[in-house]
Amino acid sequence: MLIRKRRGWEIPESAATPESLFFNRRAVLKGLGAIGGAVAAGALPGAAHAAHDETGEADPSADLYPAAENKAFKLERPLTPEKLATHYNNYYEFGSQKEIFRLAQELAIRPWTIEVGGLVEQELTLDIDDLLRQMPLEERLYRHRCVEAWSIAVPYSGFPLKALVDLARPLGGAKYLVMQTFEKPEVARGQKQFWYPWPYTDGLTMAEAVNELAFIATGYYGKPMPKQNGAPLRLAVPWKYGFKHVKGIHRLTFAEERPVSFWQEIQGREYGFWANVNPEVPHPRWSQASEKFFGPDGVERIPTQLFNGYAEFVAGLYEGMDKDEALYM
Ligand code: MTE
Repeated sequence: MLIRKRRGWEIPESAATPESLFFNRRAVLKGLGAIGGAVAAGALPGAAHAAHDETGEADPSADLYPAAENKAFKLERPLTPEKLATHYNNYYEFGSQKEIFRLAQELAIRPWTIEVGGLVEQELTLDIDDLLRQMPLEERLYRHRCVEAWSIAVPYSGFPLKALVDLARPLGGAKYLVMQTFEKPEVARGQKQFWYPWPYTDGLTMAEAVNELAFIATGYYGKPMPKQNGAPLRLAVPWKYGFKHVKGIHRLTFAEERPVSFWQEIQGREYGFWANVNPEVPHPRWSQASEKFFGPDGVERIPTQLFNGYAEFVAGLYEGMDKDEALYM
């Protein structure tokens, strides 16, 4: 009998739900309403002393936070508890399970440089602290929707991606902005798994990259970004599924050709370039019609919105495009 072994990324539909994958598996919670309480009480293994910086390292950018809130980006739902958003993560460099926050602490985030190249007037190497001190930092409340059908609502601090694009001065021929994560297999042990196409890569069209919603997040909940959430800088494009939100960015390349992303290379039928949130187009292994929102009172099942509720900002980007292509993957 042929028994097909499931590959690391091929989670079953049942595991795409947060409570089965994370909470119930640990048998620490009975009802959904218990989630907030259990997290707050430190009932999850390892969560008791969890703070942003698990190692106690001082972050040289700490004085920049909290940044002033930009009230143009409001939410109609309550924020996800900070402990949940910082302890339920996807970061395959540190493993395919959700509890990577401890392992992620091994990543050194200073010194940290961002290489800028490809179709630019001049290649640049940017130091993170120089960059942070010249960018217009602000706080935005964003929804975040994972393709696994869970969602959170979080306060990011950072700056518009457009400000970084302007600094990089791309040439006219640039059609895409490609973002890539660091490569440090000695600490990010997931990168020793050679069957994954490291480094984690994804990209945007130039029009998407300069859209006002596209954000480089450097802080979370009014503090520097925790390592498990993508410190020192990550992408936040809330109208797209979470896998587009490259964490731990080390390289930006302006390109004429559309990049093949990490997930597309692994399974292009399931994870495409556009990845615009769309309740009408199911993932091949589960529906996207609704999502499980992690709120302060537990998990709430809510309908998914087109473009994750951000159509007023981004629908125009896809006008005139083949609807099936732009609204799916
Ligand atoms: N970035 C890198 N480098 N590696 C990853 O595995 N996972 C993505 C995205 N960015 C991922 C990544 C996925 S699938 C999601 S849903 C979000 O990060 C999760 O972000 P969070 O853990 O901060 O909520």
